Amino acid sequence: MKFFVDTADVAAIAELNDLGMVDGVTTNPSIILKSGRDILEVTREICDLVEGPVSAEVVATDADDMIAEGRKLAQIAENICIKVPLTWDGLKACKVLSDEGNKLNVTLCFSANQALLAAKAGATFISPFIGRLDDINLDGMDLIADIRTIYDNYNFGTEILAASIRSVNHMKDAALIGADVATAPPAVIKAMAHHVLTDKGLDAFLKDWAKTGQKIL
Ligand code: G3P
Repeated sequence: MKFFVDTADVAAIAELNDLGMVDGVTTNPSIILKSGRDILEVTREICDLVEGPVSAEVVATDADDMIAEGRKLAQIAENICIKVPLTWDGLKACKVLSDEGNKLNVTLCFSANQALLAAKAGATFISPFIGRLDDINLDGMDLIADIRTIYDNYNFGTEILAASIRSVNHMKDAALIGADVATAPPAVIKAMAHHVLTDKGLDAFLKDWAKTGQKIL
């Protein structure tokens, strides 16, 4: 499973990138707001840092304006992935922009039928939002499984990008189901390294080592 980082925090992206943990980056208008940065400037900086696709989202709601914004965002760098919402106009923009050779991430997906439409419209990635479905007492992971089945039934090339990931369990379950990509905040990716028994075991080893009186260096 590829790891995308769901942030515009350049320092956090750089730290994970140095460890080989970053296959791409996703942003959205809320993430740009949180960064306090200019969208074009911060996105260019991220594109310079990361080799994989960097999603930058349009904010227009009609297809023609989405297409114009998408074309402008695509000029930032080679690895820009234009993000459009899963509306009828978003699907129109997806088709036009993907036919022009751009990478497209269709976002705010909450149903398998929406994912089917995005694949037909030429999406590179479909972004089902797990956490926001869990928030309303639905099972976001069921949606990932349904999309996996449908895409595999018909050999669609669109990649499933599990989004709105809030926990390490979301990461594990998305990987078990076979999501192609998971995008998560840096804190969730780092939390995957933690285990209470690792901490406990290391503590015991270090106490015993101190009793040996030895040094390696
Ligand atoms: O990847 C989509 C993400 O940015 C939305 O996450 O936690 O706001 O639902 P969240």
